[in-house]
Amino acid sequence: MKNSNLRIGLFDSGVGGLTVLREIYRQMPSESLLYFADSARLPYGMRSPEEILQFVREILDWMCKQDVKMVIMACNTSSALALETVRQEYDVPILGVILSGARAAVKLGKRVGVIATTATAKSHAYRQAIQEINPQTQVWEIPCPEFVRLIEQNQLHTNYTRQIAQQYLKPLLQKNIDTLIYGCTHYKHLEKTICSLLPASVQIVDPAEHIVVAAEKELSLLGLRNNCFPLPTRFCVSGPPQQFADLSRQWLGYYPQVEKIQVKELSAGMVALNPLD
Ligand code: DGL
Repeated sequence: MKNSNLRIGLFDSGVGGLTVLREIYRQMPSESLLYFADSARLPYGMRSPEEILQFVREILDWMCKQDVKMVIMACNTSSALALETVRQEYDVPILGVILSGARAAVKLGKRVGVIATTATAKSHAYRQAIQEINPQTQVWEIPCPEFVRLIEQNQLHTNYTRQIAQQYLKPLLQKNIDTLIYGCTHYKHLEKTICSLLPASVQIVDPAEHIVVAAEKELSLLGLRNNCFPLPTRFCVSGPPQQFADLSRQWLGYYPQVEKIQVKELSAGMVALNPLD
């Protein structure tokens, strides 16, 4: 039986998963967190399913060694391509974002657009999950390969980003969608631009909000809600720590201490512990 005071682990390729982390801060402020960004290997959305599965296993092996009580895949690409396989391989509860997002969308609309990474769009994970709940709901999944790079380069409000967003949303607007899912955790960071290009009638689903509701339920069910004061969030990255800290600050509202993890040694544990080295 796990200890309820342990951290919840969450991971993404980069800063996208911070949208889930912020939701945890909002909905479950008493929980302690471990955030891992595999920034040395992003974007995941351009990787093959085999590579994604391998990366996810490496991260889970490492996270389990850090002794977490639950893992949230704060990454749609990993959830779409690896969740089903790895769920049976580890004895820690593992949650992905797709099902929570699909459930929320089905309640809201009948014509659902999904913007996602190329790998997630190709997997049709959202269409499958939505139509399993309601076969009458129509779903269009659009790959947005440029978004993650633009967000990781902090190009959130440039004209170029706006043009690209316009281009990606065009086919969905032509289909008269009534609901849009952020099918990549990074995309919430572009909320202002995306919302300015959509008619007010289109409802947005951010799976980050819904995965945290699901995680809360699961933790309560398992008797694992933390009832002590939370530990400071631990941030670990495989790429340059300073870059991650500089970029994250705007979303966290504080400058995080970031530890560097060597990707190749991921399974063997942490190699360098110097913050911001
Ligand atoms: N934020 C991730 C997702 O939700 C991964 C994006 C990427 O690295 O391509 O899919």
